[in-house]
Amino acid sequence: MRLTRTSDLWWKNAVVYCLDVETYQDGNGDGIGDFKGLTQRIDHLVRLGVTCVWLMPFYPTRERDDGYDITDFYGVDPRLGTLGDFTEFVRTAKDRGIRVIADLVVNHTSEEHPWFRDARSSRDSTYRDWYVWQDEPPKDGPEGVVFPDVEDSLWEYDEGSGQYYLHRFYKQQPDLNVANPEVRDEIARVMGFWTELGLSGFRVDAVPFLLETDGQDDAGGLPDPHDYLADLRAFLGRRNGESVLLGEVNLPYGDLARFFGDPGSDRGDELTMCFDFVGMQQMYLSMAREDAGPLAAALRERPAAPRDAHWATFVRNHDELTLDKLSEDERAEVFASFGPDKEMQLYDRGLRRRLPPMVGGDRRRVELAYSLLFTLPGTPVLFYGEEIGMGENLAAEGRQAVRTPMQWTPEEGAGFSTADPTAFPNPMVEGAFGPRKVNVYEQSRDPASLLSRIRLFVERYREAPELAWGEYHLADTGERSVLAHVSRTGDGAVLALHNFSGRQVTARLRLPEAGPGGKLTDLLDDGHAGLTVPDDGLLPVELPAYGYRWLRVGTTADDPERVATG
Ligand code: NOJ
Ligand code: CA
Repeated sequence: MRLTRTSDLWWKNAVVYCLDVETYQDGNGDGIGDFKGLTQRIDHLVRLGVTCVWLMPFYPTRERDDGYDITDFYGVDPRLGTLGDFTEFVRTAKDRGIRVIADLVVNHTSEEHPWFRDARSSRDSTYRDWYVWQDEPPKDGPEGVVFPDVEDSLWEYDEGSGQYYLHRFYKQQPDLNVANPEVRDEIARVMGFWTELGLSGFRVDAVPFLLETDGQDDAGGLPDPHDYLADLRAFLGRRNGESVLLGEVNLPYGDLARFFGDPGSDRGDELTMCFDFVGMQQMYLSMAREDAGPLAAALRERPAAPRDAHWATFVRNHDELTLDKLSEDERAEVFASFGPDKEMQLYDRGLRRRLPPMVGGDRRRVELAYSLLFTLPGTPVLFYGEEIGMGENLAAEGRQAVRTPMQWTPEEGAGFSTADPTAFPNPMVEGAFGPRKVNVYEQSRDPASLLSRIRLFVERYREAPELAWGEYHLADTGERSVLAHVSRTGDGAVLALHNFSGRQVTARLRLPEAGPGGKLTDLLDDGHAGLTVPDDGLLPVELPAYGYRWLRVGTTADDPERVATG
């Protein structure tokens, strides 16, 4: 029996917004963003239509990996505020209808975490087995190193105790040993703690690495890593039924589907959502080629998420735009189109850029990408600043290029902080994408701005339950450059068309949902009369260069009953 009144699956039509407290809004004038400042900016998120904020790590840290190297899982980085400020923020967000999730970074700790300091102090330490040690590092050395510019091995020799420890990321981030039940219990305590303080779940960092027990086989590694993941989801569900696990699993589709849950069951009892890294990369390839083919192929190949799970879609995130799932030639194509200079590239696999500069500031192409984000099946996840079209600052180190302060106003300091900009965590963006040209204040007052457009996308996406809840199929259009997909629920269907090319085209499609005489309503252009399917059943839709349309098929009526119930 299927339950249909499932509005508790709130995350299926959520609008997730990722931000780093440190770079969002300084509330005390010291140049560093903080919880007080963030709380003052909630109305921006409300107006945008955000329903869930994802906080990047805000815990005490050694700042070796921008907060992803944690020294205390139960605290708040004192530069960002106190636990009191954190709870005030969560409470205020909830009051305005916004849930909050946060990064759960438990694949590793900082090397300065008291557990690791104790663990390395002696082979007899109580915490020794909380990490992964070996006498000799395995011969395959640099295989799978995530930051190849800095590391050449997964194993680091610890002088004091005379063994090597495992670190998937920087050597300052020793991997925790989840094969140890004490570690698993502690991870659950961490999750329980933040859930108790009001979080509605977690973005789980580096899931495949968290589950691996490399080097621990002899010590009785995890018998079934997926059982453990299912345990975590069940634990979280018991503590707070609305909580989600949004997982970072950058694997090919075939391997990734397993992280939703046992393929033998359609329930999905592991990660609630997985980011669609493959689809994202194919979207950029489609944009580079001006050919919808790569993205269409990815959507055809993408496994359906099980019933109690969902894909999460994104255009950019806080890391490099990874192109690791493309072939070398395909990657070269994307580099050539969107980041030809060496300094724009990172680890030979990605771009440390934001979208608007990649497309030379072409509004049409920026809108195309975000229109896809809100219409493609999956929960849309925005990275702060995307809503106004911020750029990057290549003078900032590595991935920091896209983690520059939020641009609120055209003034010096961009309304982010009154402190001297030298005190900021990262430099501001300069030039055409800097605060003087790109800021919330001015775009908020301009109906033609990108911000106004994105607000409209969010509004119409939330009004069209088909987009979030529906099953989808691709329609043939006779035009290589056009992607047409139909999302359908029991009683409604929305057709979205996207033209990847710089020339005007007419797509022609036959829709099982609309025969001759069938009506289509424009969901974005309120003044548009709509379309009628001609007698031959072949619907022509004109699309300008890089244009897009959202059309409701069949019914023109809005039925509020259907919103958020699926
Ligand atoms: C993935 C995060 O997105 C990235 O920023 C971080 O460096 C690594 N995991 C290590 O935690
Ligand atoms: Ca501050």
